[in-house]
Amino acid sequence: MQHVLSAGQFSKEALEEIMAQAADMEEIVKNGGCDMAKGRILATLFYEPSTRTRLSFEAAMHRLGGSIISETDVNFSSITKGEVLSDTARIVGGYADMIAIRSKTPGDAKIMADYSGVPVINGGDGSAEHPTQGLLDLYTISKQFKLGHEPLVISFVGELITGRTVHSCSQMVKQFPNVKINFVAPADIQIPDKYFDEATDTKHFELTDEILETSDVIYDTRIQKERLSPEVYEKHKTAFHFNAEKVNKMKPNAILMHPLPRVNEIAHEVDDLPQAKYFEQAINGVPVRMALIARGLNLI
Ligand code: NCD
Repeated sequence: MQHVLSAGQFSKEALEEIMAQAADMEEIVKNGGCDMAKGRILATLFYEPSTRTRLSFEAAMHRLGGSIISETDVNFSSITKGEVLSDTARIVGGYADMIAIRSKTPGDAKIMADYSGVPVINGGDGSAEHPTQGLLDLYTISKQFKLGHEPLVISFVGELITGRTVHSCSQMVKQFPNVKINFVAPADIQIPDKYFDEATDTKHFELTDEILETSDVIYDTRIQKERLSPEVYEKHKTAFHFNAEKVNKMKPNAILMHPLPRVNEIAHEVDDLPQAKYFEQAINGVPVRMALIARGLNLI
C-alpha cells in the first residue's frame, strides 16, 4: 500500500517519478480537472491548524473528480472523548478510500497506516515530518533548477529544531548529487542531529551576506511559537527578518521559499521581487498532492 509517511521512504527515482507526475497533474488542472478518482473518497483528519495543506489536499481530490469527508477541529472529534487513534483509523478506513492526517504527535500517521486498511498520507505529525510539503518544495525547486545536474546551494533558515517542513525537504534534496545544504539558525533552534549529514551539510549560526549571495535557494521558516518554550520564542521571534534590501543581495535567479504562514519573517515589499517564490510554492501543493492521491489509489 502506497502510504506517504516520511521523506526517508523515497528513493531519488521515486522522487523524480513524482515530480514528473506532478507536472502532468499541473496540465490536468490547467484543463479544468479530470474524473480519474470518480467515486473515491479522501478523508482529511486535521487535528492541528492548517490552511494550505488541508485545502490543497481537498482541492487536489476535487480536481481528480473524487469526494472528500473532513474533520477540521479535534474538539469536534471523538478523539476528544478519549477515542484512541487506532479505533478512529479502523472506522475512517471503512468510510474512505484514503486518509490524509495532521496531528500533534509524531508517529500518529504511522498508527493510522497500521490500522486503517487504506493508504495514509502524513500531512504533518507534530515537530517530526511533513513529507508532502517536502515534495511540493522539491517540485518548486525542480521547476527553477536542474536538480542533481547543476551544483545547488540550499540554505534553510529560521527555526529548524521543530521545523517539520525542513526535516522532510532537506532529506529529499540530499538524494540528489551536487546539492550542498546550509542550516542557518541559532544553536538552540538548530537542525536536530538526525537530519544533519556532515558530507553535505554545514551549520551556521547567523545569516551572513555570503550566504545570501551564494545560495540558489533560501528556504525561510517561521519561529514556531506553539512548539517552543516562551523563553526560546521571545529570544528568537524577530530573527532573520527578510526585507527587500536583503533579498536584493540574492542572485537574480535564486529563489526565496517559505512553507507559509509567514508572521514577520518576510516583509510584504519582498512579494513582488523576482526571487519571491512562496506563493507559487503553496499553489504547487495541488498538483503534487493530486499525484500522491492518484498513486495511493493506484490510478496512475
Ligand atoms: C508548515 C507546518 O504546518 O508545518 N505549514 C505548512 O504546512 N505549509 C509550517 C508552519 O506552520 O510554520
